[in-house]
Amino acid sequence: MGASDVDPPRDCPLCPRLVAFHRGNRAAYPDFFNAPVPSFGPADGRLLIVGLAPGLRGANRTGRPFTGDYAGDLLYATLIAHGFARGTYDKRPDDGLELVDCRITNAVRCVPPENKPVGSEVSACRPFLLNTIAGMPNLQAILVLGSLAHGATLAALGLRKSACKFGHNAVHPLPDGRTLVSSYHCSRYNTNTGKLTTEMFHAVFGTVRALLDGPPATRS
Ligand code: URA
Repeated sequence: MGASDVDPPRDCPLCPRLVAFHRGNRAAYPDFFNAPVPSFGPADGRLLIVGLAPGLRGANRTGRPFTGDYAGDLLYATLIAHGFARGTYDKRPDDGLELVDCRITNAVRCVPPENKPVGSEVSACRPFLLNTIAGMPNLQAILVLGSLAHGATLAALGLRKSACKFGHNAVHPLPDGRTLVSSYHCSRYNTNTGKLTTEMFHAVFGTVRALLDGPPATRS
């Protein structure tokens, strides 16, 4: 794949179950995007965030990762707070929000039934994830949201899961000199159950910011 085919085509045929789901959703929701959701944000950013997959009425509707999804409310507010986005997040792809030094993608680009991609779908989408990573010349840190994105990213990088154990706010130096940071996914389930709090999510972005720019200066 060349740099121009980083994103899967609109009619990507690789996953029969997801193709069929799209077909049904195109009939049921003709105004939705209903196609593989492309990455969002500048390819020359130093940070890549890897999510799970588009939500049916969120990214699959709007065509922008996390946009309109419950998880996007926390993600975009946190990105703005940590200087990785500017503007206003208004749950619409034309809200003018800009990502700064950061790109967002998903381990699986198509909406899966019940938000659950199967292993073969994660594997089929891996070349696109790898291409996204390869297309970021300044990439220094990859933040994975949830254990599925963690596993998919390690596989794309040719690393074993045992090489980097998933944990919240866990930092893993990679053999290529970059750093992998893992976080609980900012899903409605995780925030409603208290598995992930807003503070815990901010702490992850504090870690990422310190990795990219060094720790904040202390006053003497
Ligand atoms: N929306 C996305 O685009 N990705 C996720 O992982 C969750 C919601």
